[in-house]
Amino acid sequence: METKLFSTHSSDLHAAAALLRAGQLVAFPTETVYGLGAIVTNDDAVAGVYRAKGRPSDNPLIVTVSDAEMAMSYTNLTPEQTQLAQQLMSHFWPGSLTLVMPIKTGALSQQVTSGLATAAFRCPNLKATRDLIRFTGSPLVGPSANTSGKPSPTTAEHVYHDLAGKIAGIVNAGPTTVGLESSIVDISVATPSLLRPGAVTPTELKPFIPNLQTEHHHVGLHEIPKAPGMKYKHYAPDAQLLLVDPTADFVAVVQKALTKVPGDQVIGVLALDQQLALLPDSSQLVAYSLGTDITTASARLFAGLRYYDLHPQVRVALIQAVPEEGLGAAYMNRLRKAAGNQSYQAATFTQLL
Ligand code: TXA
Ligand code: MG
Repeated sequence: METKLFSTHSSDLHAAAALLRAGQLVAFPTETVYGLGAIVTNDDAVAGVYRAKGRPSDNPLIVTVSDAEMAMSYTNLTPEQTQLAQQLMSHFWPGSLTLVMPIKTGALSQQVTSGLATAAFRCPNLKATRDLIRFTGSPLVGPSANTSGKPSPTTAEHVYHDLAGKIAGIVNAGPTTVGLESSIVDISVATPSLLRPGAVTPTELKPFIPNLQTEHHHVGLHEIPKAPGMKYKHYAPDAQLLLVDPTADFVAVVQKALTKVPGDQVIGVLALDQQLALLPDSSQLVAYSLGTDITTASARLFAGLRYYDLHPQVRVALIQAVPEEGLGAAYMNRLRKAAGNQSYQAATFTQLL
């Protein structure tokens, strides 16, 4: 199958919408990561999304909507839940907050919900995406448009790399700005719970949800995952990432590590520009810039992980951990998964070389 590339011009969005209406798969940009779209009511198309991604079919999909009204038409909420949902939507939508809400029986197929009585709704903060949904005339399922297990795509090129030939089109809006997937809050339960940290932080949510639960529980292998990414391997780059303690002197750690690297080998270093500037000019370092702060680091993290996949000679990469505050909590959540929670230790490092 030829994978067509579309711009965000209105005529291109109409062409992409026509493909979606015909039951094809089209990847679309959002402010967080690129999503893989299919019409939510077309079971064959939705099955195709799981197939194209190689995603286990018991992991439910996000329902991407153009506005609050579109989401609300599928939900079945108590008056209290309605009030909370409306407050959250009017404050955070369009934006990087996904809401898990109870749905009307049969409103969405089992293919989308994995048989749950709830669904996750998201309204992206990108006008082109909301236009695409409006032109299509239906919500779109929108899991991240990567091969399952790979880092989420933050550029159309990443999507093309993973899914070319398997999907009908990609709408290209350039690199995404947030770079980490949306925050997911489950408001279907008595104590609303943050299932996945993202750019919308607990501090921002607490004024609306004072009893917000932020501790994640772990999902058993045979349970339907309540909290995304807990059951399946995520974000795995080919190189082993090693986290350097946020309190350690990163530059000193890299310098020391370099003394252990055999002359014919290289290591990866993902770091902020300030740190990269202080590193020795060594041909054994394959550096990737995370920009200047936690915002740019979040936007660039997944591209950085993919960068090393293109450099298979890099078998191990060092990256500094950050304090788990604000956006840092979402960033560290993804980084820990990507690193399999492995920290830099001299002994581990030497073994991996
Ligand atoms: O930023 C994002 O949310 C991106 C962009 C493309 O919109 N999408 C995204 O989708 O990250 P995905 O499918 O990779 O992650 C959505 C997560 C899944 O891991 C799934 O487990 C969870 O949402 N989810 C979906 N429906 C759910 C439900 N009813 N209850 C709990 N979790 C749910
Ligand atoms: Mg994903």
